[in-house]
This record gives sequence, C-alpha cells and structure tokens, in this order.
Amino acid sequence: MSARKGLILAGGTGSRLWPITQGLSKQLMPIYDKPMIYYPLSVLMLSGIREIAIITTPQDQHQFQQLLGDGSQWGVDITWLVQPTPDGLAQAYLIAEEFLAGGPSAMVLGDNIFFGHGLPELLAAADAQPDGATVFGYRVADPQRYGVVGMDADDRVTEIIEKPEVPPSNYAVTGLYFLDGTAPDRARDIKPSARGELEIVTLLESYLADGSLTVERMGRGYAWLDTGTHGSLLDAGNFVRTLQSRQGMQTGCPEEIAHGLGWIDDAALMDLATRYAKTDYGAYLKGLLDS
Ligand code: DAU
Repeated sequence: MSARKGLILAGGTGSRLWPITQGLSKQLMPIYDKPMIYYPLSVLMLSGIREIAIITTPQDQHQFQQLLGDGSQWGVDITWLVQPTPDGLAQAYLIAEEFLAGGPSAMVLGDNIFFGHGLPELLAAADAQPDGATVFGYRVADPQRYGVVGMDADDRVTEIIEKPEVPPSNYAVTGLYFLDGTAPDRARDIKPSARGELEIVTLLESYLADGSLTVERMGRGYAWLDTGTHGSLLDAGNFVRTLQSRQGMQTGCPEEIAHGLGWIDDAALMDLATRYAKTDYGAYLKGLLDS
C-alpha cells in the first residue's frame, strides 16, 4: 500500500465541451459503460492509494457523492473537497493542504484515462520516489493542446510550457502528477497566469528549477486518452468498448482492482455484483468470483 494520498480534480467543466455539459458534471458522463471518474479513480487504486480526496464544484458535489459514497464499498476512504471556481489545476494543492498534512500525493485529473500493460509497475516506480515530482510524458500528434516538455540532446527536461504555439517537442505532460509534500507550499508562491489560473506547469517549473522534476516517458504500449473535445470523448468510449469486447476484460473497474488487491473480500464483491445484476458489468463482477 502506498503512503501517498490521492487527489482527483473533477471541478469545472471541460470548456471545449460546452454546451453539452451545461448543468452536468463532465466527469460523471459515461465513457462507454461506466462513469468517466471510474478511470482516474482506478489509476489511484492501482497505485495502492486508499485515502483519496475528490475535488468538485460545490454544486456538483452531491452527484459525485451519490455515485461514489465514502468509498468503503471498494475499501477506499473518500474525502470530499470543493473548488468554488476553476482557478487552475495547481489550486488543488491549496484546497487539499490540510488533507495532505505535509505528505506526498498523486493527483489525477478527473477526465484522464490511462491504459497499458505495465501501468502498475510504472505507477509503483513513481510512488517509490519520496522527494520531488514525477510526471509522465506521452507522445501526441497535437502537443499544442497540452502542457509540453522541451528536452536537451541527453533527454533532460529543459522547459515545460502550457499549450505552446510552437511546441518544443511532441511530448505532452499527462494529467497524473506524483508530487512530494512541498507541493502546497510551492503552489502558494504561484501567481495567476495571463488566463487567470494557477497553472500546474508553473508548479512543475518550481521542481524543475530545483532539479527535482522527473519526466517518465509513457511509451507507445500505453494509451493515454483525454476527453477534452467531442471527438476525443467519443474516441475514448470507442477505445474502451473495442478493448473490453475483444478481451472480455474490464478496464477502469474499481471493484475488480479492490478485490484483486484484497481490499474487499469475496462476499463484498458478490454484494456489488448483485447490485448490477441485470447488466453485463454485474455479470463480469460475478464472473471474477467464479474464475
Ligand atoms: O490532460 C492533460 C493536460 O491537462 C495537461 O497536459 C496540461 O498541462 C494541463 O493544464 C491540463 O490541460 P487542459 O487544457 O486539459 O486543462 P483543462 O482546463 O481542460 O482542465 C482539465 C480538467 O480539470 C477538466 O476536466 C476540468 C478540470 N479543472 C480544470 C481547472 C482549470 C478543474 O477541476 N479545476 C480547474 O481549476
């Protein structure tokens, strides 16, 4: 089990999806057969993290609570925090400062989806770094949409820029951040950017300046999908459907992860399977017990 605490930032709405998410929380929308937030939650669980704070807008919190409760059904402990206005990703560390209590964290954006053989090992390696920051660089065709890292000839990170017009590389920084206990203090020193946000890249720059930023490449064997545009939202759903239909296995299934890690026993899994008895998802959970 990890000593880190987890954060899921699920506030605001993806501005590029407006107006289809008007009045709805984007992270509760389904990606194929389950709510979007199941996927980032699964990533934290796969990292061995059981204490998780979920940050939402004040008005959305109730819907998230209805869906996820206190997390005990999956052997995790969920704390609920709010971000009144979407003032930037780095603000999460200020909101969660008390929850983190000076300890290290792993934050994942509520709309990021990761898949890949070896993901648990990659997460475990990041988790094992007590000091500094570890983020993941993923090669994309359209780096202008993301935070992007520039690297020198020896592959050392030299810069990190949010949505650059002329990207220094094709390596986007994914929405998964393993930061040490200094993150809230560093976040407090950040000034809002031209777009009025406390930028995550500015927080990461502070680690870069100390020489304590590690960028791990997430290679071509991984899928990192974001859901920020209509097209990428649909692509993510299709990807999950294709994969699950072909393999007959779920991705982003908190019940399966919790059971696999021994956080819930057979009886608890059976109970959850019964809740969804009329669905393929319920049949899958029951099948886990049979196999
Ligand atoms: O997805 C990875 C990218 O996420 C990184 O490469 C970028 O460096 C990072 O800034 C971020 O870029 P986005 O353009 O995707 O950020 P966006 O403003 O769309 O916010 C991402 C998610 O976080 C989205 O679901 C809304 C939520 N959010 C956003 C802000 C600014 C919040 O919950 N609170 C906020 O204050």
